[in-house]
Amino acid sequence: MSLCLAIETSCDETSVAVIKNGSEVLANVVSSSSKLFEETGGVVPEVAARAQVEYIVPCIQKALDDANLSIEQIDYFAVTKGPGLVGSLLVGITCAKTLSLIYKKPLLGINHLYGHVFSVFITKYLGQVIQNRTPKIPSLCLVVSGGHTDIAILKNTTTIKYLGGTIDDAVGESFDKIARLLGLSKYLGGKDLSLLAKTFKGFSKLQLPRPLINSNNFDFSFSGLKTATKLAFEKNYKKEEIAFDFEQAVVDVLMKKIDKALNTFKLQSIIVGGGVIANEKLRKTLVEKYGTRVFIPPLYLCGDNAAMIGCAAHFLYKKLVNKKFDVDPNLSLDKAF
Ligand code: KG4
Ligand code: ZN
Repeated sequence: MSLCLAIETSCDETSVAVIKNGSEVLANVVSSSSKLFEETGGVVPEVAARAQVEYIVPCIQKALDDANLSIEQIDYFAVTKGPGLVGSLLVGITCAKTLSLIYKKPLLGINHLYGHVFSVFITKYLGQVIQNRTPKIPSLCLVVSGGHTDIAILKNTTTIKYLGGTIDDAVGESFDKIARLLGLSKYLGGKDLSLLAKTFKGFSKLQLPRPLINSNNFDFSFSGLKTATKLAFEKNYKKEEIAFDFEQAVVDVLMKKIDKALNTFKLQSIIVGGGVIANEKLRKTLVEKYGTRVFIPPLYLCGDNAAMIGCAAHFLYKKLVNKKFDVDPNLSLDKAF
């Protein structure tokens, strides 16, 4: 039996989890400073880092209390080393390094994007069985988050082969910018945009572009879609219709690239992780098309959380246990770990 205490502080969430054997979540505390950024319309790194300092120790204490464990019972620690905001990341990393030193237990530095991929391997959450099946490896994986849109192959439980990613804006970032343009939310408006899209009934004549949908590679581009959406707004198209067609355009592009990857490589399962997989239309479209071949985390594991970091640490334990690491704000899925 192994018990891991994992820490995630890559942006404006402070999260601490306790994971047993890499698949059973005993505690997953998530505290967010995102409310502070509704006024500024975007995260202020310095403010986010200060909030991390304020929240981290109470979050560690609460996670241990929730799991009914003392820190001495933890076997090893794991922490997100990147990508993310350097100030925020440093709070988690410094804290984890200190704990590892004091309690003389191993510490693993984890790539946040690997966390989003491995989140689908969690089978039990706070005493409840959440799934009794896991992806067949090799598996296709797609990470769609605020800062990333990456498609790759999980070759085995420790190796990810990168296929492609966005050449400009990430998909979550595009959702957020369009939500802001439509006056829905100044910060993290993906969900609000999706709710507005749902209210549009009928057929959209808007036909926004689907960038790179037929390109001969696995790259994505969303900046042209964003510009076209802005023009439609200026031409006074109804906000509901803009939201609907924007969301549909994103889903169409993601689905086409998944299809292309499945046709190019022999892969049974499809893993989709990251904040944007909370999107209802994307979840529904994937399940309608691929049924039980698709693996998506439950809503409470889509956004940033430490449980996924602890899960990734379990799979990568042998590879990373003796590896020194430092903050790596520009880490991506195409770099090993
Ligand atoms: O993975 P995540 O929590 O943070 C990063 O690592 O970036 O992803 C956050 C992103 C934000 O851009 C947010 O607007 C988006 O996920 N998001 C959504 C939805 N819920 C969250 N985008 C579209 N539809 C949603 N329902
Ligand atoms: Zn994330």
